[in-house]
Amino acid sequence: MNNGDVEAAWEYHQGTKHSPWSVRSNPHFLDWPNRPLPFKVYPKIEPRPLPQEVPQTGVAALSAISGRVRSSRADRVPDLEALARVLFFSAGITKEREYPGGHVYFRAAACTGALYEVELYLVSGDLRGLESGVYHFNPADVSLRLLRKGDFRGNLRVATAVEPAVAHAPATIISTGTYWRNAWKYQARTYRHFGWDNGTLVANLLAVSTASGLPSEIVLGFMDAEVNRLLDVDTRREVSLCLLPIGRSAESPLPTPKDAPALGLETIPLSQHEVEYPAMLQMHDASSLESEQEVTNWRESRPVLSSSAWAGETVRLQPLPEDEQPKDTIEQVILRRGSTRRFDKTASVTLEQLSTIFDCATQGLPADFLAPPGAQLNDLYLIVHSVEGLKPGAYFFQRVLGNLELLKEGQFRAEAYHLGLEQALSAEACVDIFFLTDLKRILERYGNRGYRAVQLEAGAIGGRIYLAAYAQHLGATGLTFFDDDVTKFFSPHAKDKSAIFLLAVGKPPKRKQR
Ligand SMILES: Cc1cc2nc3c(=O)[nH]c(=O)nc-3n(C[C@H](O)[C@H](O)[C@H](O)COP(=O)(O)O)c2cc1C
Repeated sequence: MNNGDVEAAWEYHQGTKHSPWSVRSNPHFLDWPNRPLPFKVYPKIEPRPLPQEVPQTGVAALSAISGRVRSSRADRVPDLEALARVLFFSAGITKEREYPGGHVYFRAAACTGALYEVELYLVSGDLRGLESGVYHFNPADVSLRLLRKGDFRGNLRVATAVEPAVAHAPATIISTGTYWRNAWKYQARTYRHFGWDNGTLVANLLAVSTASGLPSEIVLGFMDAEVNRLLDVDTRREVSLCLLPIGRSAESPLPTPKDAPALGLETIPLSQHEVEYPAMLQMHDASSLESEQEVTNWRESRPVLSSSAWAGETVRLQPLPEDEQPKDTIEQVILRRGSTRRFDKTASVTLEQLSTIFDCATQGLPADFLAPPGAQLNDLYLIVHSVEGLKPGAYFFQRVLGNLELLKEGQFRAEAYHLGLEQALSAEACVDIFFLTDLKRILERYGNRGYRAVQLEAGAIGGRIYLAAYAQHLGATGLTFFDDDVTKFFSPHAKDKSAIFLLAVGKPPKRKQR
């Protein structure tokens, strides 16, 4: 299959839509005794513990999320402490809870079903405190495990057809998705979750790197087989999702690629038995890049800018001026973040709070598929229930103009309840933010890999929304949705667009005084 044969992405997307009928008629149940392990464990490799008492950056979360941090450091080379900070605040365990189904280790970034199918690896040159190598990060014991000794950055330089950020990075983090860990619950829809859950993690990672004075960006242009081979993953189970170069060095010449033979390293099985979903393997294959030429073409694809047809009444967003914004640090906000489990239906947020969220979350995401800076693949639509300064109703976010365009006025809590898979959260929030995209134009421009990009971008902007809400002491949660009903609700404006992602923002109920 090839990236240009976009029937593959259409087929996958159509085949994994939720509708009231598909959800009610699905006989799938959670097989608790076969619940997958939430960690990848290499039992025969000694851990290399990461420092746990790492100094905080002290940078305000809202500045870190929006990338508005200017570093005066000439040195952009991370040391082990900086890497430990980035890894921990992206994928580390931030709290634990006991449930009837078992113990759950919650992580720094939100993840569908708390199943944490995204793993992180590190490909590094010699750094202060760390010798060069290919490592796996295990959040369970906050340690690295050395998979290959030596400097393999040259392999990534070749795999990305000399992507400048990768070619100059002292270290690159690679995220992978493990199908079964999420498919145990979500079946073939997991491939969408790869983008969402990797995206929320990436939002944290970019913010913490920025706060640490280390440039970083999302690289989706790489030859999949080369990177998978370097990490020695079994591609029927686990695949590379994106590269995240960290820092920048002037070092030259870069190391030449090295031989990366199969390692056959033992890992603990996730479950007694696993179920394979061929639709996901096909989607992944069809969106893989196989040659240098395909990678170069990917990088040169220009994004599809969203239309801003201006028909309805508009309201200008009014973000809080920077000196009036809450100053909690990025680390404090990540540790505080969770997914709000109940919203107070009687509460409201202000237009300034909502505007600040939008302003921070939609600042140009640094990604190889988004040029010029500021481009975006997803369009944002809102159902406003209770925002002071906005009439309740459905809106379209005119990103370039910074306006909300009123599409229809009214109280749509019942509709929001339905669209969010009949969960109370979408009805009781103050505002629901839907991500939709013109998938046809995206796939024409980028091929099947555009599907990966659009899901990942949604997750990353969604992750920023989570952080920007919690930075202002609000609540937020990702939600899933009935695909075609979302499009119908926002039509005619959203006609021909596909629903990609949903996030609700509001206030949790006040705790009763005892
Ligand atoms: C993309 C996405 C979709 C989600 N969908 C739902 C949902 O439909 N219903 C729900 O109750 N929680 C949903 N969640 C919240 C997750 O269950 C939550 O992130 C996970 O349990 C981890 O908890 P934490 O976010 O508090 O760390 C979603 C989260 C994400 C990132």
